[in-house]
Amino acid sequence: MAEKKIKRVGVLTSGGDAPGMNAAIRAVVRSGLYYGLRIFGIQRGYEGLLDGEIAEMNNHSVSNIISRGGTILLTARSKEFATEEGVKRGKAMTEIFKLDALVVIGGDGSFRGARDLHRIGVPVIGIPATIDNDIGCSDYTIGYDTAMNTVKEAIDRIKDTAYSHERCSVVEVMGRNAGYIALHCGIAGGAEACIIPEKQFDLKEDIIKPILSCRNAGKHHYIIINAEGVGGTMEIAEKIHEITGISTTTTILGHQQRGGSPTVRDRVAASLFGVKAAELLANGISGRIIAMKGEKVVDYDIEEALKMEKNIEDSLIETSKILSLY
Ligand code: F6P
Repeated sequence: MAEKKIKRVGVLTSGGDAPGMNAAIRAVVRSGLYYGLRIFGIQRGYEGLLDGEIAEMNNHSVSNIISRGGTILLTARSKEFATEEGVKRGKAMTEIFKLDALVVIGGDGSFRGARDLHRIGVPVIGIPATIDNDIGCSDYTIGYDTAMNTVKEAIDRIKDTAYSHERCSVVEVMGRNAGYIALHCGIAGGAEACIIPEKQFDLKEDIIKPILSCRNAGKHHYIIINAEGVGGTMEIAEKIHEITGISTTTTILGHQQRGGSPTVRDRVAASLFGVKAAELLANGISGRIIAMKGEKVVDYDIEEALKMEKNIEDSLIETSKILSLY
């Protein structure tokens, strides 16, 4: 959709931080300047937009940040912006700072805010960034690979000690509504079972049986991955111990999964997404969400993008089960 000439662009990060957000900010600023735009950094996501915490950025403002986790612009989950009144106030602030468009780097919730702004006439572009990889329109989201590598390292360490003590370790990983981290890291970490929000599980059938069949085949250490969205990690561990008599530990990996220097994959994805955002705006195009389809960077209409869904394939679940056979 071609719109009015865009010259002044605000950029913000919103929702849970994700490694690679800085690389995306850097790409928006550097390519934006290259295409003749002026870029303004908005602090604390939509909270900072509502408060007018907005300052112009230049090439130097983003120097030496590509390797840093977190976000130099800070982030927040704004309650006020989830209201109609908040969105109107946000639009008013873009007018005060004469911002012609916004680039929103974040997840689904952040994109809903961007869509609401777009509906009342603020041109926006969304860049998918969340460690959960749960944005329907995109095969990949910034931060996912770094988070998975952090989880993989933790599982490897936990496995060493589980092996030595002949224990079962239940590891809780992030993923509020999505089991991507759990399933992929379960495969990468050689887990006996993965519990994910997308699939109902039966404790005896899906957890106890695989553990006992591994034990009867001579194995004496077991890793069970549980996604945060399923919950009940402690209870699952207690039940395993109660039913099998196997010594069981729990580890909740928590927010370490959100930090750390981004991997090459995240730095490159963030850089490509950021450049695409600036290119679209420089061509007067907005109301789009940038996405990855296979290895290609594409963009979708924001209304359509928010209706898209993606699901974990049953074959992937099956694969993880096959590979856990001992
Ligand atoms: O959306 C990413 C995520 O890390 C989820 O996996 C997790 O449920 C949530 O954010 C935690 O958010 P907060 O840091 O606000 O507690």
